[in-house]
Order: sequence, then C-alpha cells, then structure tokens
Amino acid sequence: MNKKLLATAASTLMVTAVMAQDVIVAKKAAYDVGKLTASSRAWNHVKGTAVILYPQTTIRMNDKKAHMANKVVHAKKATVKALYDGKKIAFLLEWPDGTKSVQKGYQSDVYGDGFAVQFPVHYDHPKTLPYIGMGSEGRPVIIHLKKAVQAVFEPNGDGDVGMQQNVLSKPYFGDAIGKYQDEVAKRAVKNYRRAFISEGFRSMTEIKDGSETFSADMKYTGKGWRGAVTRPLRDIYLNLDNGAFPVAFAAWDGARLNRDGLKLLSSWVPVRLEGKTGGEALIKELTADPKGDIANGKALVEQNGCTGCHYIPGMSMPSFMAPGLANIGGYSTAAYLKESLVDPSAVVVPGYNRNAHPNTPWYSVADGKRQSAMPPYPLDEKSLNDMVAYLKTLKAEVK
Ligand code: HEC
Repeated sequence: MNKKLLATAASTLMVTAVMAQDVIVAKKAAYDVGKLTASSRAWNHVKGTAVILYPQTTIRMNDKKAHMANKVVHAKKATVKALYDGKKIAFLLEWPDGTKSVQKGYQSDVYGDGFAVQFPVHYDHPKTLPYIGMGSEGRPVIIHLKKAVQAVFEPNGDGDVGMQQNVLSKPYFGDAIGKYQDEVAKRAVKNYRRAFISEGFRSMTEIKDGSETFSADMKYTGKGWRGAVTRPLRDIYLNLDNGAFPVAFAAWDGARLNRDGLKLLSSWVPVRLEGKTGGEALIKELTADPKGDIANGKALVEQNGCTGCHYIPGMSMPSFMAPGLANIGGYSTAAYLKESLVDPSAVVVPGYNRNAHPNTPWYSVADGKRQSAMPPYPLDEKSLNDMVAYLKTLKAEVK
C-alpha cells in the first residue's frame, strides 16, 4: 500500500472511531444502588463509556451576552457509568468544566453549572424516539435535573422571595422582618433537583406529587463535575426494566451563561442492563454508522435549498428562519434526521420566541396540530441516506 492510501485508510478509521457510539453497560450490583452518590467508591469498579455533548439551543433567548459567550463552543467528551440492582439504576456523568459556577439565590445574572439525565417514556419504536431537546408532542420524556446552587429561596414555589422585603420598613418592623428572613433562609433549597415530564420545551411540567423518586448530587473535582442520579427501574411514568433503553445527557455551563434551553446535549445513547437480553433493534439503531455518500449528500443539501432557511457553517449565515444545523449530526439520530426530511411535521422543533419574530414562524397551527414551515422532501431512498450521512457529519469538534 502506498503512503497516500495508508493515510486515507487511517483517517477513515479515525472518523469511524469518533462516530460510533458505544453501548453503556449498566453493571449488575448486589447492593442498593439507590444509595450511590457522585463520591461513592463503587464507581471505581465500573468501566466508563464516552458520550459526546454538543452545543444545542432549544429556545433562542433574548440575551445578547449569552449569545456572545456561546459564539464559539466546542463539544465536550463526558464519561458515563451505570449500575443497577433489581429495583434501581444509578448513573454517573463526568464532564470537563474549568470553572465552578454556583447559582446564588439572590443574583439573577449568575448561573450555576448543572446536568440532566433524560429518558423517553416510550422507546419500543427505535426510529421514532422523542425529540432530543426535551421531548415532543405525543412523545414525552422524563427529565432529572440537578443544578449547582448555593441556596434558592422559593418557600411557596413562586421563585425568589428572599429579597422581597422592603428595607425601608426595617426601622419599624425590624424584629418581624428578621424573623421572616430567618424563616425564609430555613426553607431555602440547597439541594436543587427536579423531575419533569415534558412533551417539548414549553410543556415541561414538574412532577411534584412525590411519585417520581430519585436522588441527584454533583461534586466539583477541580477539572470538572461528577454528577450522580439514581432512580427506580420502574415507576408509574417509566419502565426501564427491559434489556435495553435509551438515555440522553445534558450539561449547562454557568460561566457561559447557560440556562434553560442553552446547553450541551448528547444524542440518544443505548443502555444495556448487564445479563439481560432484548432491545437489540434499539441498540443497533443507536450504534450504527449512517451508510451513505457524504459528498453526494452535501450536493443534495445545496441543490434542495436547505440553506435558504437553515444555518450550516461555511454554507449559510445564522438566521431566524429555522433551527441551526451546526451540531445537528451530534445530537440527532439518523432515523430522526430522515424523519425530519420526509415528514417535517412529525416532530416540530419548538423554536424561539414567536412573539419577538412573528414574520418567521417555524410552524403554523391547523386543527390544533402543528404544521412545520419546512416542506417535506420525499426523495428516493438513496438520496435520503446520502443527505442523512452528510447531516451526521455536522457537529463541533471535541475540546
Ligand atoms: C422553508 C424553510 C426550510 C427549508 C427550505 C428547509 N427547512 Fe428544515 N426546517 C425548517 C423549520 C422551520 C424547521 C423547524 C420546524 C420543524 O421541526 O419542522 C426545520 C427543521 C429541520 C430539521 C430538524 C432540526 C432540529 O433541530 O431538530 C432538520 C434536520 C432539517 N430541517 C433539515 C433540512 C434539510 C436537510 C433541508 C433541505 C433538504 C431543509 N431542512 C429545508 C425550515 C426549512
């Protein structure tokens, strides 16, 4: 083999190695994994699986500073470990973050680092999993969210009341105000963790009735975070007690003013419960490299006017017309990309503030159902596969 061929072979190998997603194997444990935290030694005996987190914005916020701070963002390589007993499952997510950011209850412009673990409620059809950005209409997800906070004051669930007393009244009601402040401080939330059921970003509903039992904690290591989540394998919302199921991870960087939909996000990653069978089709779907002619896919994207609406680095400019595709290959499955082309209304990305940008709505509503502004592209199978193979290459590098 000559040198050039060797080099090509090597680079092809490298691309494959970067693209293939490994299966997270949840190791069977003989103890209660519900007690595990980010600091538990048990994690030392579990093999980690690399999961890449890509920049994704579900909702474009009206915040120039945040957009500037996220103008250039790279992907991050996280490591995931999982353990399960007969009843519960525990995950450990380790991700790099050079700055420890902790949200303080009374500073609304300081954001805390955080992470989330997401599961589809239904996953028996691996080709139609929920939209990765917090679910979609008819395809709900369960989300466990943990944020680094010093203290959040929300005794009545209405947000920050810690600073709401009028200081001018202090000379007259000093004692009463003092007592009130003590009472508020006592009720401050220091362990900020929430469970949501969601069918799209704006439909997130916190599960508050106690039926979703889980634990979550996070620990800064000096180089990044270790975050742990434990939860039942089965409850009224979710049944993970099958051979395999999908999971996704998100991380927020407070230093980059990340919050809400501004985050780093993985694609759906398959988890195999050690010693169990089933879910082979799901694993195959989520680990297979897309087969297609990338160069032809790129040409087709150019010919079909995709860049008239979408931002693709090097091809078009960011716009309000449609979601940016800069990292679409990183956090989307091949099946999702194909579905987006043939049936854009199957999953409608929620979009930015519709009131602020009334001239470029991403969808209209007809008979109570959202209709995407994107036309369907019912192309032949080969063209679709080529386009999907190209779209899968659109993602930031890991740094
Ligand atoms: C007329 C404008 C328009 C054109 C042309 C268009 N799209 Fe879209 N596209 C949209 C809008 C709006 C959305 C968001 C609503 C939705 O989810 O359908 C979208 C969504 C998508 C998504 C899902 C994005 C995400 O964040 O999950 C993909 C992938 C996509 N388009 C790819 C393409 C490709 C590839 C082409 C060309 C073959 C194309 N689009 C042509 C407007 C357009």
